[in-house]
Amino acid sequence: MAQVRAGGVVVLDHPLIRHKMALLRDAATTTRDFKQLVSEIAALMTYEVTRELPTETIEVATPLETTRGERIACKIALVPILRAGLGMVEGIVQLIPNARVGHIGLYRDHDTLEPVSYYFKVPTPVADHRFFLLDPMLATGGSAAEAADELKRAGATEIALLSLVAAPEGVAAFTARHPDIPVTVAALDRCLNADGYILPGLGDAGDRIFGTR
Ligand code: PRP
Ligand code: URA
Repeated sequence: MAQVRAGGVVVLDHPLIRHKMALLRDAATTTRDFKQLVSEIAALMTYEVTRELPTETIEVATPLETTRGERIACKIALVPILRAGLGMVEGIVQLIPNARVGHIGLYRDHDTLEPVSYYFKVPTPVADHRFFLLDPMLATGGSAAEAADELKRAGATEIALLSLVAAPEGVAAFTARHPDIPVTVAALDRCLNADGYILPGLGDAGDRIFGTR
C-alpha cells in the first residue's frame, strides 16, 4: 500500500481507503454505515501498520507433508481511546483474532480542550506487548498524547498510534511529545477550527459511531 510521509506522520494512500473516507465524511451517512466504515478502514490500515511485526518459523503438517511456515512472534494489544476508538477494534480483531484489548478512558474538556482521564486498563505484563493505540480523531493531539503517557507510565515500550483523520496541529503536538511513536493515518486534513474540530473532518466521531447526537 502506498504511503505518503508528511511531517512525522504516515498517510496511507489506497483507493479503497480514499473511497471509504469520502463516505465517512459525508454528513448524510447513517450511524449504521458510519460504524461499519470506521471498522473497515481500520482493517485496511492494519495491513500496513503490522508490516514490521516479527515472525518466527514453525513446522506445519499439511495433509501431504511437513513444511515450514511462519507465525507472529509477539503479543499484540489493541487499546482504543474511549469512546470513539472502540469503533476501530472490531475491524482489526477480525485480522488479529488473538489480540488482547485494553481500554483508556479520556474525554476532551469542551472549554479547555484538555483531556480528562477516567479509566485505564491494559493487558499485562505490559512490557511484553506491542500496543496499537486507536482513536479515529487526532485533533489537538492532547488525548492521544495523554493516552501514550499513561501507557508508557504503565511500562509500555512498543507503541504505535492509528487514527483515521488527523489535523497537522495534532500531528505536530503528538510527535513533539512522543517522537518514538509512529503515527499512521488514513487522511491528513487542513486544520482545526476555533472549537478544536478538524476541518474538513467528519464531525464528532464518538457521536456519529454511537448515534448520540
Ligand atoms: C474525541 C476523539 C479523540 C479526541 C481528539 O473524543 O475521539 O479522543 O476527541 O481530540 P484531541 O486530539 O483534541 O484530544 P471526545 O473527547 O469527543 O470523547 P468521546 O469519544 O467520549 O466523545
Ligand atoms: N473529536 C472529534 O470527534 N472530531 C473532531 O473533529 C475533533 C475531535
